[in-house]
Parts: sequence; C-alpha cells; structure tokens
Amino acid sequence: MGIRTVQPDPQEATTGKGKASRILVGAAAIAQRVGELGLQLTADFAGKDPIFVAVLQGAVVFFADLIRQVQLELVCDTISVSSYRGGGHPAGEPQLILQPREDWKGRHIIFVECIVDTGMTAKLLAQMAAERQAATVRLCTLLNKPSRRTEEVRCDYVGFTIEDHFVVGYGLDFRGRSRNLPHIEVVST
Ligand code: IMP
Ligand code: MG
Repeated sequence: MGIRTVQPDPQEATTGKGKASRILVGAAAIAQRVGELGLQLTADFAGKDPIFVAVLQGAVVFFADLIRQVQLELVCDTISVSSYRGGGHPAGEPQLILQPREDWKGRHIIFVECIVDTGMTAKLLAQMAAERQAATVRLCTLLNKPSRRTEEVRCDYVGFTIEDHFVVGYGLDFRGRSRNLPHIEVVST
C-alpha cells in the first residue's frame, strides 16, 4: 500500500519564538502523496458511495486536499476528538467532542486522520463505527508514528511513516499553533 519511511529533509528552518525546527516533509512531496492516495481511494471505493469523515481539527488541511483527489461521488462528515489538552503530552483517553452528522449504518466509512500515534484515537474511531453499524471501516492517515503505539490498530492508507518526532504543519499543531504551515516540520522542544 505504498507505506514509506521519511528521513528528515536536510534543509533546516527556523520558525518563531526561537524554536529551531526542520522540514520533514515538504509541500511538493505531500501533494504528490495525497494524489497517490486519492487514486487508490478512487479505485477502492468505486460504486460504494463512501462517507469520508474528517477527524477535526488536525485533519482539516489533509482532508480538503484529499477529497479533491478522489474522483467519486462521496459524502463528507466531521467528528472531533480531543486527546491532547493544549500541549505535547497525552492527557488520558481521547474524547469525542463533536458527533457525526450523517447516518453511518450500512455505509462505507473512511476516517481521515492527520496522525496515528499511540492509536488510542484510532481505536475510539473503530468503536464508534462499530456502534453505528457501518458496513466497512477504513482509516486513512497522513502520518503514522508506529514507535509509540500502545493499541493495535490498522492504518489502511498511510501518507508517510515517520520516526518518533513531534511534528507540526499541514494541519498538525503544537499548543494550537502552526497548523497553517504548508509543510510538515519537526518541533524541538
Ligand atoms: P493517538 O490517539 O495517540 O494516536 O494520537 C492522535 C492525536 O494526537 C492526533 O490526532 C494529534 O492530535 C495528536 N498528535 C500525536 N502526535 C502528534 C504530533 O507529532 N504532532 C501533533 N499532534 C500529534
Ligand atoms: Mg493536536
């Protein structure tokens, strides 16, 4: 399924507040990979009228780009799960803070996530889809950080597999900031 490991881009960047950061995945590489994922999803969900579910907030940028690369009739939905409370450390079990709008019963659900880290959020998503009696459930994540996994979860579509870095940009935040960066960069804390 085209899972790749990303080595840090040698280009160094410095962003605000005196934090040294480095670009891990550039905007062009992201765009290319999103196009590839779109092609795969187009092939896999042809004729299935799937529901693409954006996992807010982190997935908004990825979701917006991805759905435009899927050449199918589809329905969009949103949910919001909170796991980090304003910092870089997990604060217990993830919580659903925005309910889906669509009826998932008997439908093909594709969750679109920004990153799978411990897997706790992904596990909650799978439980939600099962409770709502979805026909099939797939997880599409821009980034996969398998080194910190505590839960057994299946990532069906992965943009990039990364090492144990805390990253921001392209929707991902650190304390609510940096979601608007067009690339993904490592935060040195
Ligand atoms: P999990 O439940 O541990 O898999 O974490 C998933 C959530 O943690 C993501 O949706 C992000 O909000 C957050 N997260 C995990 N790693 C990072 C990171 O490197 N940068 C920004 N957010 C992260
Ligand atoms: Mg976050």
